[in-house]
Amino acid sequence: MNKINIAIAGLGTVGSEVAKQLQINNEFLSKKAGRKLNLIAVSAKDKSKNRGFDQSKLNWFEDATDIASLNEVDLVVELIGGSDGVPLELCKNSLINGKSVVTANKAMMSKHGYDLAKLSEKNDCSLAFEASVAGCIPIIKSLRDGLSGTKVNKITGILNGTCNYILTEMREKGLNFDEVLKDAQDKGYAEADPSFDVDGVDAAQKLSILSAIAFGISPDINNLSISGIREVDVTDIIFAQELGYRIKLLASSKFDKGLVQEVSPCMISLGRQISNVEGVLNAVDLDTELAGSVMLTGYGAGAEPTATAVLSDIITVAQGKCPYVFGLSTNELSLNVDTGEKENYRYYFRLNVIDKSGVLAGVTEIFRKYSLSIESLIQRGRNPNEEVPVIITTHETDFNTLQSVMEDLSKSKELLNKPVCMKII
Ligand SMILES: NC(=O)c1ccc[n+]([C@@H]2O[C@H](COP(=O)([O-])OP(=O)(O)OC[C@H]3O[C@@H](n4cnc5c(N)ncnc54)[C@H](OP(=O)(O)O)[C@@H]3O)[C@@H](O)[C@H]2O)c1
Repeated sequence: MNKINIAIAGLGTVGSEVAKQLQINNEFLSKKAGRKLNLIAVSAKDKSKNRGFDQSKLNWFEDATDIASLNEVDLVVELIGGSDGVPLELCKNSLINGKSVVTANKAMMSKHGYDLAKLSEKNDCSLAFEASVAGCIPIIKSLRDGLSGTKVNKITGILNGTCNYILTEMREKGLNFDEVLKDAQDKGYAEADPSFDVDGVDAAQKLSILSAIAFGISPDINNLSISGIREVDVTDIIFAQELGYRIKLLASSKFDKGLVQEVSPCMISLGRQISNVEGVLNAVDLDTELAGSVMLTGYGAGAEPTATAVLSDIITVAQGKCPYVFGLSTNELSLNVDTGEKENYRYYFRLNVIDKSGVLAGVTEIFRKYSLSIESLIQRGRNPNEEVPVIITTHETDFNTLQSVMEDLSKSKELLNKPVCMKII
């Protein structure tokens, strides 16, 4: 059996597990690859750390970028993370030197994926990144290969396990966002600085990668509207339940005459399969022209699930498969596509007001002014001259009307704080 020499840069949660699996399950994995998967070099910052695999016979590199010029390395596995700097330099130089690259780096693929894809084509080597979106869910291979025979109309996904865990815990335990976030940080499900996850940036980067493959465009995170879950209150979760919905941070994209990509918390009808994807699980629902709806679900993070996707890429590369990175030659990918028109939706509003006469009339007047028809209005209990939430759901409306209503509500003296609004799906 001939061999493929592999180097791993980054030996944290994912990198250590990949190295460990390449050692303990080498025979099984090499048989699948049809070649001996030969791990020869590694790089991380701290050589003294015990990482749960045998490093004694491996070449250690202080500077990960040195790996790119090692003649004996055929495949570089980048598991450092971050959009620029060392990982980018390592991947670029490896491709320039004709080495294939496997990465789990969504930040880099979202920002520099097009340039890296060009380099991989020019130098006739593979660039694989299955683990960069939704952990172990084989969504990139599914979109690029399994479903390449059909157009994709729309992508809808739960792409951030931290947010899904927080929203699930808020619902199950009746706790507020801050309390659940702290608990998630204590358990290691959320980073010390959670903004990347809870503000929707992580999901947005992943969505831009999926949109690129589904719609034949270059990944473009600038063409994407993002709002995270910080404003979701336990009150919203309780009302969602009562109204027959569940709140999820949804990433969705559609390409018709233009591209519409959004990450935002949404009220999802309990009848939809994706509403039942709970905890740290991720899911992607693809609405396709010929195959109808295809939904995949599984763990979006964690050492073993993510290593599964990285190992699958290593096997694919070792087999010599080298598909177009985003499903089309980079010459065929569309660049700088226009933003499309947002779809019409029904909406949920939570308006915190003082419980006194005339307030409701003032608020509903704003909806009447823009002909946004109210489907239901709930003000639960009485709390004279104190704060109460007013919950309004509307009939379907267009985005411009929604924006006008939101602007007027934000300026209204009747509201004690910013109105909260979510799409109903
Ligand atoms: N964790 C997950 O569940 C998950 C899921 C999907 C995708 N990913 C992606 O996988 C990648 C790795 O994530 P991770 O969670 O494994 O990260 P991590 O635990 O923070 O590990 C990062 C590793 O990179 C090493 N490193 C940092 N700077 C370096 C440098 N300049 N040169 C060489 N090594 C350097 C660190 O070294 P030390 O150990 O010495 O500090 C560490 O071993 C990221 O792109 C991430 O987005 C992660």
